[in-house]
Amino acid sequence: MKHVLSSDQYTKESLEELFDLAYKIKQNPKEYAEKLNDKIIAIMFYEPSTRTRLSFETAALKLGAKIITTENAAEFSSSIKGETIEDTVKVISGYADAMVIRHRSDTSAMQAASVNKIPILNAGAGKGEHPTQALLDLYTIREKRGTVDGVRVAILGDLLHGRTIHSLIKLLSLYDNVEIYGLSKEVFKLPEEYIEMLRERGIEYKKCNSFDELPKDLDVIYHTRIQAERFEGDFGKEEFVIDKKVLDTFSKDTILMHPLPRVTEIATDVDDDPRAYYFKQAHNGLYVRMALLLQIFDRDK
Ligand code: CP
Repeated sequence: MKHVLSSDQYTKESLEELFDLAYKIKQNPKEYAEKLNDKIIAIMFYEPSTRTRLSFETAALKLGAKIITTENAAEFSSSIKGETIEDTVKVISGYADAMVIRHRSDTSAMQAASVNKIPILNAGAGKGEHPTQALLDLYTIREKRGTVDGVRVAILGDLLHGRTIHSLIKLLSLYDNVEIYGLSKEVFKLPEEYIEMLRERGIEYKKCNSFDELPKDLDVIYHTRIQAERFEGDFGKEEFVIDKKVLDTFSKDTILMHPLPRVTEIATDVDDDPRAYYFKQAHNGLYVRMALLLQIFDRDK
């Protein structure tokens, strides 16, 4: 059974296959309009979402599938009565052919997949992983540069709780000659386990303390929101805000990415700059998620 649970399950070859398919879908989405017309996809989001939920729903609908969904599963599903994720999947597998899940627990998608009844797609698991976001991020980088090899990326924001960061750096580490720079408040620095993972894969993570320490010819600046919902207390606002003045200190080819939603970390005065890629990035999520749905049902050929 094919699941989408973690960036760990991908190789460079399998990523290239996925991205080639997403590219073909983007060129001609109508060609895929009936590929899943016998399928029902359950959409179970226990945490808020705009992009991931609506792009998965749109992806399913554009492939001809039907969806069953609960808008706020934390409140309106029987989890509030104490039902486990495993029991929920056992029940839903009697109704739907696959399930997309977002949940506050880092292990939620793995738990759902352990039932092994229907394919599970991890749409964000606590502060652990958000693999489909990382896949669309990488697709966007590849679309811009033609290749991910040799990419030089700075990751900013909440590197501690940012599940998109954790999934993204795992995928980046599969490519050749990648450089990763980090810039965040000390309290949100990248956990040692991820730095060690990068080291084992031959990437020396470069921790920076100011914008001045970042190379000006980076390919990508990838900012993220402080995930205030993941910790107690107040650690203040993002101190490394990108506005037009800051962006203009970087190359004209440096693209600015963000999984969104943004709060204060990217000023709106850069939105019209051709280097602002975050809305293009969100749009690519549709095609990457269409490709993922085709792959889990072996309808990708
Ligand atoms: N990037 C992302 O996961 O956005 P949503 O929370 O809106 O799904």
